[in-house]
Amino acid sequence: MSVETVLNTVRKKQLGQYFTDQRVGRLLAALAGAESAKTIIDPMVGSADLLRSCLSVGARPDRVFGLDLDPLAVAQARAALEGVRCTELVVGDAFSTELPSEQFDLVITNPPYIRYQSKGNVDGISVPSAESVRAGLLRAITNRPDLPDAARGLWTRAARSYPGTSDVAVPAWILSAAMVREGGMLAVVAPQAWLSRNYAHAVRELLDGAFDVEAIVEDGDATWFEDAQVRTQLVVARRRPVAARTAGHSVVRARATRDLDTEGSLRGSLASEAAVATALRAVTASSSTTVTTGLTAHVEHDLSVASSGQTVHVPARVTVAIGTGPAALATRTLASYGWRAGQGLRSGANDFFYVSVVDGVVCPAPRWGVESLPIPPECLLPAVRRQSDLGDHLAVDASLLQSRVVNLRGWVTAADLKRMGSGEVQVLPAAVGRWISQVASTPLSAKDPTKLFPDLAAVATNSKMDRTGRPVRFWYQLPELTVRHRPALLLGRVCGGRPRTYLNPSRTVIDANFSGFWPTEPDAMPAEALLALLNSSWVWANLEATCTVLGGGALKIEATDLRRMALPVLSAEDVAKLSRLGRDAMMEHSGDLQLAIDEVVAGALAPGQWDELRPQRLQALAEQALSHRSRGKWSSRAAGSDVFANRVAATDRWG
Ligand SMILES: C[S@@+](CC[C@H](N)C(=O)[O-])C[C@H]1O[C@@H](n2cnc3c(N)ncnc32)[C@H](O)[C@@H]1O
Repeated sequence: MSVETVLNTVRKKQLGQYFTDQRVGRLLAALAGAESAKTIIDPMVGSADLLRSCLSVGARPDRVFGLDLDPLAVAQARAALEGVRCTELVVGDAFSTELPSEQFDLVITNPPYIRYQSKGNVDGISVPSAESVRAGLLRAITNRPDLPDAARGLWTRAARSYPGTSDVAVPAWILSAAMVREGGMLAVVAPQAWLSRNYAHAVRELLDGAFDVEAIVEDGDATWFEDAQVRTQLVVARRRPVAARTAGHSVVRARATRDLDTEGSLRGSLASEAAVATALRAVTASSSTTVTTGLTAHVEHDLSVASSGQTVHVPARVTVAIGTGPAALATRTLASYGWRAGQGLRSGANDFFYVSVVDGVVCPAPRWGVESLPIPPECLLPAVRRQSDLGDHLAVDASLLQSRVVNLRGWVTAADLKRMGSGEVQVLPAAVGRWISQVASTPLSAKDPTKLFPDLAAVATNSKMDRTGRPVRFWYQLPELTVRHRPALLLGRVCGGRPRTYLNPSRTVIDANFSGFWPTEPDAMPAEALLALLNSSWVWANLEATCTVLGGGALKIEATDLRRMALPVLSAEDVAKLSRLGRDAMMEHSGDLQLAIDEVVAGALAPGQWDELRPQRLQALAEQALSHRSRGKWSSRAAGSDVFANRVAATDRWG
């Protein structure tokens, strides 16, 4: 890759420039009814991809407005829309530039999913700080002349309440929503996580308060954006007067797979994206139905998006394997069993915060050129960092782990002791102090020599001052580890083969490459029972059907997928059986044991309708999905490579 390409890629990433493919744009525009919109705006227009999509599906607007921070993108947008009448394209920051004061028929956008706090200047473009974004957003809301008072109150609350650490996409949504006229449409490309992440709660409340969400279409196989690592959704919502919630209002929720992509259009076996949008609007069934090749959908009534991240979801093909309709399935969430799922430890700088211990010698990351370090043993906590750290058994054996988290809470360097205000601390050996100052003066990467380890967003927040401005905590001291970092069970977030959950009996620290599970209620289901349940073919089949397949064929399992997962309604007897099976599985996970687990789970899912082939069907479905994504991996690389073909075969055997 040339230096220019690398710089270009970094620039794009820093500006959040993931442009929307025309086929995705056309589907979004068609879903939003762009063909009848007379006024259209994209406040983060990029190269005008979404505006072009609107024209492609038949829009003939009287006014088109686009704005972008990046002059190069706006130049591309001007070229792309040359000759389109009544078009205005402006360079500027959406939060400080004066936007058109009228309300629009259609606001269509793919906001940048980036954090602004640490940027400032990107290739000469001044990127606003998180504080100025919020201030600008509040100003824009106050100044919109046609926003009724009740709406202004709602928008102001949203603008004040979103967390300062959230993606700029959150204020961008709030701003975009403020520009839609009553009866008009908001159409947004969003990551799937917007439905459940805390940081987007303000947006969801705003949507519940002033919009009827009409359609949510999910990119099931993560094929819509080449380089994005998250699964995307298209969200289309109609603005209504505040608090006039439409009773019985229905939302079409659809899931697309790569098969929807026919000759560069997201149309399956239909004629066009517009035909797909029409077919989606006609869906009325609450059970999942096939709309066209590669697209299933169902209707939900009165969906409250503010809380919907916690509702369970069973994909249609999994229901088919069970042999019942979704209504007959007895399901509940992980939370209802007294458990929570979340990501492991994000240290912010793994090269510093993890070391290895080999034959009793503490070795930091090779980049430091230090062979061993006298870090006090009480500062080193065993940690699971990679799936290869886990053995054949479904339980973490801490004695086999080489990785250690460097946990320096309560310890400081001799130099920092002199600077400190107060606090009971111990002093680190001089060699460790020298290593810490070496790390402190080292850039994270050669690409950005000005960015030193202590300045990294997640590391800088470790430093704390007292009221007199003297330091009490330092960048090299991780915040207190919580139960989320030492969970009872864990599961890899990116799984090449079958996703396996492990018990963590000694509550070892887990890295952010894993999701953890921990009990939140005194009467939570026993950990061994949950271990068996999470390793059932039912859970596996659901994860295969709902999680993101990455470019290389691995499955990316987010904590949000786990929270939404449908678990069977288990009787006390089922739980006792699963506990026994879970304990056995920690010793040896055989085919017979798998079948025994699957029988308990499949029986509980549809009680009274026993079908002895159900466990096999679920397992076959999961195996098929695994081999499908592994084959995708194979075909996406140079076909015919023996080494690679062998690896695929190995994965097929749960390698
Ligand atoms: C994900 S891209 C989407 C572009 C285009 N709408 C599309 O879908 O292809 C987000 C765009 O937001 C722009 N952007 C980032 N921060 C901005 C800001 N504060 N004001 C206006 N545009 C901004 C980026 O330059 C980028 O072009």
